[in-house]
Amino acid sequence: MVNHHHFRWPSAFLLASFLLLIAAPAPAPVFVAADNSTYIPRDYILLNCGSSGRTTDNDGRFWNGDTGSKFAPSLNSAGLTASKQAASSVPEVPYMTARIFTSQYTYSFPVGPGRKFIRLYFYPANYSTHAPSNAFFDVTCNNHTLLSNFSAFLTVNSLNYDSLTRVYSVTREYSVNTSTGGLDLTFTPSSSHPNAFAFINGIEIVSMPDIFTLRTPNLFMGGSSVSYSIEPDMAMETMYRFNVGGKFLSTTQDSGLYRTWSDDTEYIFGAASGVTYPNDPNVTVAYTAGVPSYTAPLNVYSTARSMGPDKNVNLNYNLTWIVSVDAGFYYLVRFHFCEIQNPMTKVNQRVFDIFVNNQTVQKNADVIAWSKGIGRPVFKDYVVFPIGSGQMDMWVALHPDPELKPQYYDAILNGLEVFKIENGNASLAGLNPPPRPQPPPVDASWISGRSTSRKSRAAAIAGGVAGGLVFLIAGFCLVGFYRRRKAKGKDGGSSDGPSGWLPLSLYGNSHSATSAKTNATGSSSSLPGNLCHHFSFAEIKTATKGFDESLLLGVGGFGNVYRGEIDGGTNVAIKRGNPMSGQGEHEFQTEIEMLSKLRHRHLVSLIGYCDENCEMILVYDYMAHGTLRDHLYKTQNPPLTWRQRLEICIGAARGLHYLHTGSKYTIIHRDVKTTNILLDQKWVAKVSDFGLSKTGPMLDHTHVSTVVKGSLGYLDPEYYRRQQLTDKSDVYSFGVVLFEVLCARPALNPALPKEQVSLAEWAVHCQKKGMLEDIVDPYLMGKIAPQCLKKFAEIAEKCVLDNSTERPSMGDVLWNLEFALQLQQSAEESGSISAGISDETPMTIRNKLVDDPSMEPSITTTSTTSTSMEGQSLASVDSYSLTPSAVFSQIMNPKGR
Ligand SMILES: *[C@@H]1O[C@H](CO)[C@@H](O)[C@H](O)[C@H]1NC(C)=O
Ligand SMILES: *[C@@H]1O[C@H](CO)[C@@H](O)[C@H](O)[C@H]1NC(C)=O
Repeated sequence: MVNHHHFRWPSAFLLASFLLLIAAPAPAPVFVAADNSTYIPRDYILLNCGSSGRTTDNDGRFWNGDTGSKFAPSLNSAGLTASKQAASSVPEVPYMTARIFTSQYTYSFPVGPGRKFIRLYFYPANYSTHAPSNAFFDVTCNNHTLLSNFSAFLTVNSLNYDSLTRVYSVTREYSVNTSTGGLDLTFTPSSSHPNAFAFINGIEIVSMPDIFTLRTPNLFMGGSSVSYSIEPDMAMETMYRFNVGGKFLSTTQDSGLYRTWSDDTEYIFGAASGVTYPNDPNVTVAYTAGVPSYTAPLNVYSTARSMGPDKNVNLNYNLTWIVSVDAGFYYLVRFHFCEIQNPMTKVNQRVFDIFVNNQTVQKNADVIAWSKGIGRPVFKDYVVFPIGSGQMDMWVALHPDPELKPQYYDAILNGLEVFKIENGNASLAGLNPPPRPQPPPVDASWISGRSTSRKSRAAAIAGGVAGGLVFLIAGFCLVGFYRRRKAKGKDGGSSDGPSGWLPLSLYGNSHSATSAKTNATGSSSSLPGNLCHHFSFAEIKTATKGFDESLLLGVGGFGNVYRGEIDGGTNVAIKRGNPMSGQGEHEFQTEIEMLSKLRHRHLVSLIGYCDENCEMILVYDYMAHGTLRDHLYKTQNPPLTWRQRLEICIGAARGLHYLHTGSKYTIIHRDVKTTNILLDQKWVAKVSDFGLSKTGPMLDHTHVSTVVKGSLGYLDPEYYRRQQLTDKSDVYSFGVVLFEVLCARPALNPALPKEQVSLAEWAVHCQKKGMLEDIVDPYLMGKIAPQCLKKFAEIAEKCVLDNSTERPSMGDVLWNLEFALQLQQSAEESGSISAGISDETPMTIRNKLVDDPSMEPSITTTSTTSTSMEGQSLASVDSYSLTPSAVFSQIMNPKGR
């Protein structure tokens, strides 16, 4: 490719870092008038393509139809309306109408000279006879190529592959300098695809100030750096824009420029996500002369993410974000900083290094030295050139820099932007993502109800793309402790070195009345209550009527589970760890961390927690129907119909599939079993218990454990043999669940003859011998369509294959189960099989057929030493995931954490 950039000699920028070496006492603030004026764009156009008249979007912005518009020469006919997908969450405006082009077409906007944001909105749906998979097209703006052979369909598909949340639409944001005035936007169907067409749902054009060329950043390449000047006429594409440590900001929260700022949580690598916090109420965050108001909303500077309170932990990890970018382009990476919590007021308090793609782009970063004081925003630009092909990961990482012996070993970030710079051919177009298997069809309720409004927002933004859409549902509870300070003081009180603990107030929730109380009681928690609900102990006591025994739902090694009532009538399940025991603390933290990041219809929702008085209390949605096991055997509950069972399995599979693939890094549940699948009021299956979850494939090294955890009978033999954790370990356990559901017997029943003890082995044996029917739950006799049974047994058998690589993925399992359900449904509809709704098998028979499941040993082994078993009685106990097995593992392997 042609190098189009121009190198210049350095660079005020390196000089800035020299300032640090001087390390002067905090300089007196320099009083230069700050630019607090709101930017008012000269041009601001919102064109709702394929529609006519005026419409309003979810942010209250007015859009004009392109039918008969002065910007759309000779477009007088109506556009086409999207046939709604399952996605009722896609905003009406501008997505539900589209303009389809089967030949080249140009919109002409008579805008003034200067830079413009151009935002293109795409919703790849069926438009009349036009299938989204056939749309391939180029988009140019004046002489710049924005998109080439673009497929919104493949892009959205790929986003779904990588993202935690379902994406339906995609938005692209560009910045083009229309120096001579006038902006032509041309759509051209791709010539390389027969029948290709182009489409567009919305076009937004907003004048913007020069945010790119005022400074000359350095380009870091091959271990050295040169200054890189962004030319005034270069087009840029926004790849990512994060409100780091904060929440999603919509167009109207960034007045003037109408940018959106995504939550960064999804892009953080591994479980090491640091801590997030808002500004100290006593600290005023205000723009300064060097940072005008349009740089970023104050909201971005008023929230931050830092590494955490433990210098030893911080020294051992990098706070890392991973974003996907197109190789072969230069990228401008902009970091926004602002110290917002006392006592971060002086130079050399918090000093860190910044890495991009393994290169050090900044040594000795010191926000106070740059900004000259607390509450003063500052931003830094660096340019990198990721070498590779196609789409690749770009790593952005922060690490404490002990070189200057700063007071704290920590790092901070408030905002992050990644812009792609056009190449020598004036093109920004990357390749389409490779085709991926289509995710299973989803219904609109795929995401749990409480998050739909955010989600639809999110869908509207899809922030930039390749990896894109961010936001966050999940970010309700950005819980980011590193390692909670142990009450016993195991990690605390490190007196050596200049660091030690940061003041608690830094992590406390300054908005919550309860947090002061919490801190005062000395729980010394670093779990922030600002986004996840923090309950006071008093509230918990009220909710459970003082832990009334009549409200007890279960008892286990970890503690008790109570039914409780909050907000005057909302039922919740309250899991209380044994106070002061210190046991299971790691699980406690992991569970909060995991659950708070994950929101899904088929995962149990964490509502909040209480860690006052060294309590470890978790508050969950109440699951009215308890565990799946409670409806299978050894129970007074009536049996579930086959369809119910299938639907429950599908729900659970969806939850697990989401854990495995919903985010960039696989989350492995590690303890899949029928007592960890809970059922709500409407029989919707929800996977619970993330106390044992691990982020894979690369485990966060601060939490690496060689201890094999899980429940015997469900444990992947390969994992057991090699201590190698993969998502296929969950698939194995899920296979056992499938057999359990089919046969209504425990995974392990030591009371049976030897060859029958392990359900997985026995079922596979029977399956091979063609006598599976003999062990199917008698209640289901004659009620399962033979084709469905065959399919179901096939999947279950594949799941429990010895060799993990031969097992299907959770996605495949899901597909097959859905297929099995269809087979059952069509058989029932054709009347060839009875749905079996009312038929009752007498309880006595059921109980007779089921042997005592109380023997459910848990197993603990370290990689080198012995295996031991715990004959724990778990029956009916570990609903809401008490997982005594996990707790016992902890006790037996105190070093395992
Ligand atoms: C746009 O381009 C013109 C001509 O190259 C230049 O003078 C102007 O500064 C540019 N504007 C911005 C905002 O970069
Ligand atoms: C942090 O990242 C840098 C650059 O990639 C790397 O050299 C360093 O080893 C990392 N440190 C840790 C503790 O992972």
